[in-house]
Amino acid sequence: MKKIYITRKIPEERIQPFSEKYAIEMWPHEHQPIDQDTLNRKIAEADGLLTLLTDPVNEETLSSASNLKVIANLAVGFDNIDITAAKKRNIIVTNTPNVLTETTADLTFALLLSTARRIVEAQKFVEEGKWENWSPYLLAGSDIYQKTIGIVGMGRIGEAVAKRAAGFGMKILYHNRSRKERAEKQLGVRYVEFDELLKTSDFVVCLVPFTPKTKRMFGAKAFHMMKQSAIFINVSRGQNVDEHALYHALVNGEIKGCGLDVFEQEPIKKDHPLLQLDQVVCLPHIGSASIATRTTMIDLCLENIDFVLSGLSPKTPV
Ligand code: DGY
Repeated sequence: MKKIYITRKIPEERIQPFSEKYAIEMWPHEHQPIDQDTLNRKIAEADGLLTLLTDPVNEETLSSASNLKVIANLAVGFDNIDITAAKKRNIIVTNTPNVLTETTADLTFALLLSTARRIVEAQKFVEEGKWENWSPYLLAGSDIYQKTIGIVGMGRIGEAVAKRAAGFGMKILYHNRSRKERAEKQLGVRYVEFDELLKTSDFVVCLVPFTPKTKRMFGAKAFHMMKQSAIFINVSRGQNVDEHALYHALVNGEIKGCGLDVFEQEPIKKDHPLLQLDQVVCLPHIGSASIATRTTMIDLCLENIDFVLSGLSPKTPV
């Protein structure tokens, strides 16, 4: 029987449809990532592997793989996997595009709204018993409707965010490594150079995948170019941002606020400098975390593994 190893505890009922066909084993913890030694040992025996974005799969990890045919990563991003090293060993890598697009766009907008309208600060204010009166500028934030949103990375999620922005009557700018003419026609979005987007947007939303080219593309220079009233939102990967520069831009009033779902080093601790600032909303990387979407993502990973181990092409190779 072929072996599948899953690097995190997932519900038994997801595995059940495959349990007569494969010997399936999983890491027994739901909230704690697998350690590298165990991962190396399990990779040595497995035919199929289901990984999470918290699992670094690199040249060294893969050196013990002898039967491994497929790695199904439970995310649309796959920067935790060395694709070249996998290709060299004829290991197919799959991800979970499409199925998380709308859920992640919802979260992007939730983060944008809560940062602009100071929702988290307002909740704390009430909880701390500080609400004594109504006053004209109490927790007054920034408007969203009719403002300009600049989307950096106009992929599937970028387009889904643009649709939501259109519903709010926003003017939509985007920057991408290539023009998206269909999106321009259908969604009324306008392509601009990166610098122009930074200078003219009220909301700058980072949706680019993490690659060596995008590493820290939002650094001191980028924040300096933004409007002092700008709000920065990141829902892709933390490594696209220089957090030190972001902190200084906020403290020095170069930008107004930020909403972050991702960080350079995850998880962040409660003494992280950005968490100390009122105008920052931090979430624990929950972009695609609806029950329905995470379930669909898990099922897609298992189907991809099953397809490859049955000699078929996977549904969503990277
Ligand atoms: C992804 O899919 O890459 C997200 O970051 C996890 O939901």
